[in-house]
Amino acid sequence: MRRWVRGWQGNLPDVLSGLCMHLVLLVGSLGLAGGQRTPEQLAAIANCSRHERHARNYDYMEGGDVRVRQLFSRTQWFLTIDEQGKIGGTQDPTNCHSILEIRTVSEGGVLAIKGVKSQYYISMNRSGGLQGKKTYSENCNFKEVFLENYFNAYSSAKWTTQNGKQMFLALSSKGKPLRGRKTRKESISSHFIPLKCKGEQKAMD
Ligand SMILES: *[C@@H]1O[C@H](CO)[C@@H](O)[C@H](O)[C@H]1NC(C)=O
Ligand SMILES: *[C@@H]1O[C@H](CO)[C@@H](O)[C@H](O)[C@H]1NC(C)=O
Repeated sequence: MRRWVRGWQGNLPDVLSGLCMHLVLLVGSLGLAGGQRTPEQLAAIANCSRHERHARNYDYMEGGDVRVRQLFSRTQWFLTIDEQGKIGGTQDPTNCHSILEIRTVSEGGVLAIKGVKSQYYISMNRSGGLQGKKTYSENCNFKEVFLENYFNAYSSAKWTTQNGKQMFLALSSKGKPLRGRKTRKESISSHFIPLKCKGEQKAMD
């Protein structure tokens, strides 16, 4: 599934790499859930990613697995992290704050989720509150659990409730984040489908 894109050598203008990105994205976006996307939606999503392209630092990607996804909840929301670091949901599939970078942190499906546009990590604190954080810490680590029917759940890799129960990333039917203590793996608010919004891309230099 990994898509390798040859890095542009030399001084090709930015617009070209932008177009390349766009194409990769159009291909990568087709498929799985979320319904069919119109060309306009795809273009807007491409735009979202393209804006961040030059600001991103790819160094850490060496050896690490980074996927760009939207997380679509079973309660029908795209997970977002806005410019204030607020976690929420949108039903607009072209909302730039729904484009997420999901990075593998360690074996066993531990990963960190960051908003591509806002550059905030999703963090869960001891009491199960979700917040965006500019700086990565262990609070940003989530364990990905594969459920049936393409859905995944994401539990804090650091914190559990006082009773030792897992606390999950969850969006209510209103698209609001739930406190970790109120979540359960079985609840649909904890279920997400990662949607491809652009091909995995890695410059080969
Ligand atoms: C892409 O982004 C620019 C600048 O934010 C905006 O003016 C333009 O309308 C966007 N294009 C699409 C297809 O969304
Ligand atoms: C945990 O997160 C919640 C929700 O963002 C916040 O209201 C609370 O103050 C945080 N608690 C601590 C100890 O940081």
